Amino acid sequence: MRQKVIAGNWKMHKTNPEAIRLVTQLRKYMEKTPPRKTRVIVCPPFTALSVVHEAIKGSKIQLGAQNMFWEEEGAFTGEISPRMIKSTGAKYVIIGHSERRRYFKEDEHTINRKIHLALKNKLKVIHCIGETLEEREQNLTQDIIINQIEWGLKNITPEQMKNIIIAYEPVWAIGTGKTATPEQAQEVHAFVREMLNTIIGQNVGDRVTILYGGSVKPENAAGLLAQPDVDGALVGGACLEARSFFKIIQASEQV
Ligand code: 13P
Repeated sequence: MRQKVIAGNWKMHKTNPEAIRLVTQLRKYMEKTPPRKTRVIVCPPFTALSVVHEAIKGSKIQLGAQNMFWEEEGAFTGEISPRMIKSTGAKYVIIGHSERRRYFKEDEHTINRKIHLALKNKLKVIHCIGETLEEREQNLTQDIIINQIEWGLKNITPEQMKNIIIAYEPVWAIGTGKTATPEQAQEVHAFVREMLNTIIGQNVGDRVTILYGGSVKPENAAGLLAQPDVDGALVGGACLEARSFFKIIQASEQV
């Protein structure tokens, strides 16, 4: 059985006091109605990782970062290493988010380097994949997914896949209010599993957790999460408010 995961990607939101307020509220909701089968992860900006770690101590909430650099250490002004992330108490790191690909020109090669380094440093990876609108309209969704798995996960072993979560985030659904229908999400998730089985082998696709991301909200979460190959959600906008994020967690508990 694959565990359900609801992860919140805060993107470039929340000062430290705002971050503490948000997780403290989330913690209260979760202590009142504890999730029984859903793993909950929050991914605040780097600046808030330590204070959020402090605020979630002793709770079921887990912590992740949104990005990291591909080298261990050195003269890389403005960058953050996996060891720095680990030292805040974070256990996860999002790698290859479409906003990183788009604004910072991250490609499969850099993403692959980051994934290897994150795993070497014992961070679990949330690896984002997904097609743009133009790619979908040109019927290229499957080719894009194959490319992202083949090169983004190059030389990743079936054993290492135990520490990787895949997040399918169609770029056209991110921050646009346009969600993939449950059927569209299901179709791609099933394809991702099949490709993981083919490219990485040993039926890893059947075991790996695959999240859906892109305008997930309390109103549409249940339909998406009810799909057999949708194991959870990577939430953007709706995770910035404890109540709506918690409602998505509850939707996951009910499927
Ligand atoms: P939205 O939920 O705001 O569309 O963002 C999704 C996302 O990019 C999560 O990583």
